[in-house]
Formats: sequence, C-alpha cells, structure tokens
Amino acid sequence: IDPCDKKTCRRGEECYLDNARKAKCRCVEQCTPEPDPRYMVCSNKNLTFDSECHMDREACWCRRRKPQCGNPSFRTLRLDYYGECKQLTKCQDFEMEQFPLRMSNWLFKVMEELARRNELDGDYVEMLKSAEKDKNHVDAVIWKFCDLDVHPQDRFVTRRELLFVVATIKPMEHCLAPFLDICDANKDRKISLHEWGGCLGLDQGKIQDKCGAVHKKNKGRK
Ligand SMILES: *[C@@H]1O[C@H](CO)[C@@H](O)[C@H](O)[C@H]1NC(C)=O
Repeated sequence: IDPCDKKTCRRGEECYLDNARKAKCRCVEQCTPEPDPRYMVCSNKNLTFDSECHMDREACWCRRRKPQCGNPSFRTLRLDYYGECKQLTKCQDFEMEQFPLRMSNWLFKVMEELARRNELDGDYVEMLKSAEKDKNHVDAVIWKFCDLDVHPQDRFVTRRELLFVVATIKPMEHCLAPFLDICDANKDRKISLHEWGGCLGLDQGKIQDKCGAVHKKNKGRK
C-alpha cells in the first residue's frame, strides 16, 4: 500500500515518501514544459505563467520560503483566466445592460451544440425543447445553473464552481466578472437559483427548480 494514496497535498504540491517511508508534501518538482500558448495562464497578479502547474508551483515556493520564490507576494497567486495576460477593457454600462440577453443566447447555443454532439440527454433534451420555444431561453439559463451546481449539489453555485467557467470566458467576455458580482446580490459568495434567474432577467415565476430531475438522471453516469 502506498502511503501517498491517503495523503492530500495542496495545489502546486505533490506527495513523496521520506526516508522513513512517511508521506510528505513538497512543491511539484517537474511541470511538463508547455510551449503551447493555449496552456498559458494569467494569474491574479497579472503575470503570465506557462501553465497552471508553473503558477501553482511558484505559489508553493513562496509559501514555503524557497529560494526559487520570485516575490514573497506570490504566495497568494491564483488563476485569473486562461491565456496570456492582456489588457481587459472595462465593461461599459450599455454592454452590461445587454449582457443577460447575450448570456442566455450564448447558453442556448452551448446547449444546442451539446445536443448536436449527442452529449445532451434525458431531461436536458426536454429543457432544450422548451428553451427553443421561448425567445428568452429561460430553460437554457436554468440548465446551466443545474450543470454548474455539482460540488456539492446544493442548489447554490459557489464562486468556486463558477471559477472554471469564468476563467474560460473572462478574456473574451469582460462583462462576466462584474455581472457575477451583481448576481450575488447578498454577497455571500454563493449564487442561488433565484439570484441566478434574477440577474439574467427571468420572471421569478419562471424559475423552477428543475435540477433535481437532471441530477438524478446523471447520477448513474460517470
Ligand atoms: C496586465 O498585463 C498586460 C500585458 O502585460 C498589460 O497590457 C495590462 O495593461 C496589465 N493590466 C493591468 C491591470 O495592469
């Protein structure tokens, strides 16, 4: 039995066995070289790294006061968005006003694309059908909420659950981050189904908790 199987290390760390075969954590020794610009990440310090591994390792070096640490403030490095750091233009008021509509249209397109690839099944397909009939695509908005609410499935989407989505589209959609701040109306860093529907401009009456059916459906699937 490998003692490392039971050891959990932080991001940027890996488990190793010391001389007494005890599991210990240390900073990742080897990040695979990633010359591909698609793996580049922009950190919250507006500093580009070759990959998430490189960024997390840098944070580890600084947490552990290793000589490789480039700057003590890097101990709080985290992902801001995927890709090289760039100048993000500020979200204008008029863009923010159009954002809910753009977002629900975009979610509807994502849903259609998944259906085209046969990756949307069961209750999702029903939701797509009703989203098609509705110019505001309400069910696409609800579907995305259910889809995001996975770790844990509690009818709240946490900032953590949103981080991946945000990091993927932030460089393209500069209104997204300020939009999510507005969604989280009570600032508890969680977005409830009602907050989600509300900030996307849905009538409260149209927001139904459809996640139950969807999640039940997915449970048997890996
Ligand atoms: C972040 O870095 C990019 C590229 O170096 C630069 O264009 C941009 O102005 C920087 N943004 C901020 C907020 O400093």
